[in-house]
Amino acid sequence: MNKVLFVDDDDDLCRASVQSLSLAGFDVDCVQSAGEALGAIDAGFDGVVVSDIRMPGMDGLELLDRIVALDPDMPVILISGHVDVPTAMGALRCGAYDVLEKPYSAEQLVAAVERALERRQLVTENRRLRQTTTPDADDSPLFGHSPAMVQLRRTIAQVAPIGVDVLIQGETGTGKGLVAEMLHAASRRRGQLMTVDCGALPAGLVEAELFGSVADGLPGSRMPRTGRIEQASRGTLFLDDIDALGNGVQLGLQRVLEHREVTPIGATSARPVDLRVVSASSVDLEEAAREGKFRMSLFYRLNSVTLRLPPLRERREDIVPLFRRFVVQTSARLGIDPPALEARTFRHLEKHDWPGNVRELLRFAENFALGLDDSGPREPSLLEETDLKSRLEAFETELIEEALTAAAGDVSRACAALKLPRKTFYYRLQKLGVDLARFRS
Ligand SMILES: Nc1ncnc2c1ncn2[C@@H]1O[C@H](COP(=O)(O)OP(=O)(O)OP(=O)(O)O)[C@@H](O)[C@H]1O
Ligand SMILES: [Mg+2]
Repeated sequence: MNKVLFVDDDDDLCRASVQSLSLAGFDVDCVQSAGEALGAIDAGFDGVVVSDIRMPGMDGLELLDRIVALDPDMPVILISGHVDVPTAMGALRCGAYDVLEKPYSAEQLVAAVERALERRQLVTENRRLRQTTTPDADDSPLFGHSPAMVQLRRTIAQVAPIGVDVLIQGETGTGKGLVAEMLHAASRRRGQLMTVDCGALPAGLVEAELFGSVADGLPGSRMPRTGRIEQASRGTLFLDDIDALGNGVQLGLQRVLEHREVTPIGATSARPVDLRVVSASSVDLEEAAREGKFRMSLFYRLNSVTLRLPPLRERREDIVPLFRRFVVQTSARLGIDPPALEARTFRHLEKHDWPGNVRELLRFAENFALGLDDSGPREPSLLEETDLKSRLEAFETELIEEALTAAAGDVSRACAALKLPRKTFYYRLQKLGVDLARFRS
């Protein structure tokens, strides 16, 4: 880990500094503007940014602001032609790691970068440690062993503690609300999770609801109201179904995000807010923006990090384990034994497309636990079987399947429950055509 991103519009200075840093063994990249710098790094960038303060367009101080918003622990060293004390103090207060005055020697530059990298390494190591102690799939409320879910849990653990804004995209029922709750729970923010269901805000009251309002002093008229945005300060503002917001409100919201302050209706001055914005949408927001249905500039403010939740049909390996988990949870809540799985239930789990995703699967599992399985026609019941041998075999199959379900496919436990020797158990499985793999997640 020895990356340095050097940002300066002065060609000569860039070349000289890159040379000194490369000679000292750093892996240096040079860009000529703040915009390019922001394109070259993300929250996981494990290096140091060294930037000139005076640059055309976005200057070094604004770049610092944007980097701090991306990852407050990323070290930024600022370079200035004339460092007066107030500028230097201001930069340090805004989160700069160090300020270097021009002209500086190669040694000064290398020493500053070395110190900053050391600190970055420490932060990265700590994050890694926190990640390895992140609850694994079985403890996490977000369940599933598919690669997409494993990666999603990892990303949530990574971005939750950083104040970065997150956009969650996914079809209905894929877990967007759940992910928003997890992001807030694992953040270091002490305020509340303020959920705003943008699709359900009463028309005509949306602005007042979001931005708040001050009394207008006229008898019987407008009441003062603290807006949801202000209530979310120091916590997380969760804008659910954000695509439902009208164009005017989108513009107002964009200003709030840009300046991190809100002006209630009728107020003459803005109030600062400390926000972390998580938004969710089941329509593709980028596509909506391209089609002119959503403000492109707001989209770019919302999506510092985008989490995509795949539909259940694209991670079918999660279906049966999720179903099992939901059945066990529901049965435990109701104080009843989980019912035995039947072939028709499995068939439904395997064949159905689950357009309502995890929510639909959860409802199905709850109904199943309650004995209200409506997944298809029942196989002929035991009583309808004619000969004794078939009836006994059907009964035996049911008992074995029940034991395997309770043991989650663990043969030793199923054998113990049925008091059967292992060899006999395997023989009976083969004879009755019971597929062991079906019971293992
Ligand atoms: N991976 C998962 N593991 C466990 N439970 C899940 C998982 N994904 C979703 N759920 C549960 O499924 C239900 C639906 O999820 P959620 O409400 O978060 O979906 P959503 O994407 O917000 O849907 P909508 O777009 O309709 O608002 C919730 O009860 C949630 O707890
Ligand atoms: Mg939701």
